[in-house]
Amino acid sequence: GDVLLKIAQGADMPLEGTCEGQMACSTCHVVVAPDWFDKLPRASEDEEDMLDLAAGVTRTSRLSCQIL
Ligand code: FES
Repeated sequence: GDVLLKIAQGADMPLEGTCEGQMACSTCHVVVAPDWFDKLPRASEDEEDMLDLAAGVTRTSRLSCQIL
């Protein structure tokens, strides 16, 4: 789902979410706090592949549209 994305957009965060959760862009890239990152389900291979294309990726990067 894209609940988190919607929340972040509502909060004026700089998230675009161009593909609206289809994992076809990386504009919804977020860096997750380490405490939260450990609690999330692991990224799928498709998500990892897309993250590889995102700018400024870190060890705890995720695509926000895939988290919720
Ligand atoms: Fe495009 Fe998340 S909105 S990958």
